[in-house]
Amino acid sequence: MNFIYNVVKISILSFLIFILGCTQNQQQSKYVIGFSQCNSAEPWREAMNKEIEKAIANYPQMELIIADAQQNNSKQVADVENFIIKEVDLLIISPNEAKPLTAIVEEAYHKGIPVIVLDRKILSDSFTCFIGADNVQIGEAAGQYAVELLNGKGKVVEIWGLKGSTPAQERHDGFVKGIESHEQIEVIYEQDGAWLRRKGREIMENALQRFQNIDLVYAHNDPMAMGAYLAAQNAGREEEMYFIGIDGLPGPEGGAQAVLNGQLDATFLYPTGGQKAIEIASKILNGEEVPKYITLETATITPENAEKYANR
Ligand code: FRU
Repeated sequence: MNFIYNVVKISILSFLIFILGCTQNQQQSKYVIGFSQCNSAEPWREAMNKEIEKAIANYPQMELIIADAQQNNSKQVADVENFIIKEVDLLIISPNEAKPLTAIVEEAYHKGIPVIVLDRKILSDSFTCFIGADNVQIGEAAGQYAVELLNGKGKVVEIWGLKGSTPAQERHDGFVKGIESHEQIEVIYEQDGAWLRRKGREIMENALQRFQNIDLVYAHNDPMAMGAYLAAQNAGREEEMYFIGIDGLPGPEGGAQAVLNGQLDATFLYPTGGQKAIEIASKILNGEEVPKYITLETATITPENAEKYANR
């Protein structure tokens, strides 16, 4: 009896030690994902970080490290260098500006680290997968919407995103295409607002001083559009012109709500792609093939449908 008892005891103990060993092994073989975020301070970036963190919770075998470059190219290069030294299993990067970040992303990729480029592009093909909405298409839709609002005639102020980042150039190119066949629509003032609400406001204050007639403001994102709106409101001129932005974040502070409030006349949905990035990261780490480009869906948000987007 005692003998059987001992055998059972030893078997249970060995089984427990085996299970413990397995979980420890599992922990050791967790995949580490380095996410180099160009700036965590803006609302759209916060939303992206949250989406990524939420998505990764469904993949217990993946661990996430976020490095915030605070809109500084050199800091972002150093962050990626750090990830290379740490030998992360996969790199996700949303580059602040394209040119200064290209070489370091190429280096990571050529060292064998799979790279997902998210939302902003680099100037090279050396990455595994790019995920983002089509910014030329968004800019063009904004241009067409401006034509509609203005009945084909009017003076436009364009507030650019950071010029060295690809969405700014693409949103500009698309807009130009959208208004191209309407010679009576004229862009009278354009400035780089670096994606920042504060700068959008400053640029608009200058524009309001310089021009008696402004019919529409096209800002490359909602925070800058809202900055411009506040400047116009402060000058008592907000009713004289239309305001168009891009991003369409949900929630009380988001662009969709600003459309509902009548502050913005339209915005264009720009999904963060956070969830998709984690889904694709998991596929890459499992050795599955993924497409080189994944284009996310956009949508035009106007007073007619803004409620749906504000409350989503
Ligand atoms: C946030 C942001 C968004 C914009 C995107 C473009 O940093 O400026 O508002 O849509 O980046 O990359």
